[in-house]
Amino acid sequence: MKNSTWSGRFKKGLDEEVLEFSESISFDHLLFDSDIRVCIAHAEMLSECKIISKKESNMLIKGLNAVQKKYDAGKLKLSIKFEDVHMNIEQALTKEIGELGKKIHMGRSRNDLVATDFRLYLRDCSDLILEKLRDIRYALALSAHDNSGVIFPGYTHLQLAQPVTFGHHLLAWHEMLARDEQRMVQTKDRLNVLPLGSAALSGTPYKIDRKSVANKLGFKTVSSNSMDAVSDRDFVCDFAYTCSMTMMHLSRISEELVFWMNSHIKLVDIDEAFCTGSSIMPQKKNPDVPELVRGKSGAVIGSLTSLFVLLKGLPLTYNRDLQEDKSIILEAIGSVVSCLALMPRLILTLKVNKERALIFSKQDYSNATDLADYLSMKGVPFRTSHEIVGKIVKYAESKNISLNEISLDVFKTFSNKINKDVYTSIDVERSIHTKKAIGASSPANVRKEAKKILSALKVYGYK
Ligand code: ARG
Repeated sequence: MKNSTWSGRFKKGLDEEVLEFSESISFDHLLFDSDIRVCIAHAEMLSECKIISKKESNMLIKGLNAVQKKYDAGKLKLSIKFEDVHMNIEQALTKEIGELGKKIHMGRSRNDLVATDFRLYLRDCSDLILEKLRDIRYALALSAHDNSGVIFPGYTHLQLAQPVTFGHHLLAWHEMLARDEQRMVQTKDRLNVLPLGSAALSGTPYKIDRKSVANKLGFKTVSSNSMDAVSDRDFVCDFAYTCSMTMMHLSRISEELVFWMNSHIKLVDIDEAFCTGSSIMPQKKNPDVPELVRGKSGAVIGSLTSLFVLLKGLPLTYNRDLQEDKSIILEAIGSVVSCLALMPRLILTLKVNKERALIFSKQDYSNATDLADYLSMKGVPFRTSHEIVGKIVKYAESKNISLNEISLDVFKTFSNKINKDVYTSIDVERSIHTKKAIGASSPANVRKEAKKILSALKVYGYK
């Protein structure tokens, strides 16, 4: 089959199987809206620069809008016959307005066009992901505020370490996602550079105004080197990295949820709407959503490696390999968006088992550090306090009692600095309120921090 866009020098038509092998319309149709926007800005600029007449420009734009309308109404069939979204649109435009449609490609090539469309599309995706990240941050801050006073076991090495508050734990998750938001803002900033006008690789002899196109499309700057502009896919890697970080965070969060849901632990209960049963064991309620989020993170993290491997051997400038970048990142974005979208409701409907959380928080001498701090505040050097408390724990363990159950007389045999006030210092429910330094886990801190987050989110329309 002959391709009317580039087949002038060919005698033979393209092999049918090669056509199927090389088409990209099956995935780059997602760039349709971006391509139309880019074409309109380009057509406007061509007439501003007197490369085409105002009348021609108006007709091109009218035609492009008509093509978009047909597409939106499901009346434009995209075909692999025209390889990709760019040529499908050019064909549709020419069908719509006749020969003039063929002028749209003056001063540009598909190489700079695809890079431009792609940047524009990813910019829209970054806005969507930013919105979803803020939704989760909002849910976490709300829930942290509600759970600011809930004592919860804190782990290191996945062994009980010290009590924290559940709200503090939720705000730790919030920090990860707040960094993801910052990272996505930076990623968006870096991809906001216009490659259009670089043409195939060497630039164009037409007296085009690239800054005007950048302005129309909301790009902050224009690229400085035509060869780099058509071959650069750093912005796709940046995007994949940013998505990978988010998925890595969501996966860690998911792992904690699965652990807390474990039948022996039962620290939280995930709402039924987010769980599934078993086809054979009638009693089962499985935490499938966090499991799937954890599972999906693998392919997203893999997308970054796929892109690096795709790019690492490519010489300047455009190589057809680059077509593969889209399916890799588009799939990753699909996963990230679907995972992000579920999290706010999962968080807001999560039930924490306060009684068990308190019991667990008090186990395994989790207040030993409080006792060491008590001694050090009485003037004992911390290393010495640590040593003394180690011995006290060993004693308590041998008697199978908690630190709170040791009598003052016995305490005094370990250190004469210990007085009656020790019991309040090692009372988990009281000591939590003393963790008041910036970033520490006290209920007051958590409430203050949650309020700060909620008030910062107000500019985005959150209540
Ligand atoms: N479908 C191609 C892609 O996604 C568009 C650019 C084609 N350029 C070329 N010289 N064949 O990369």
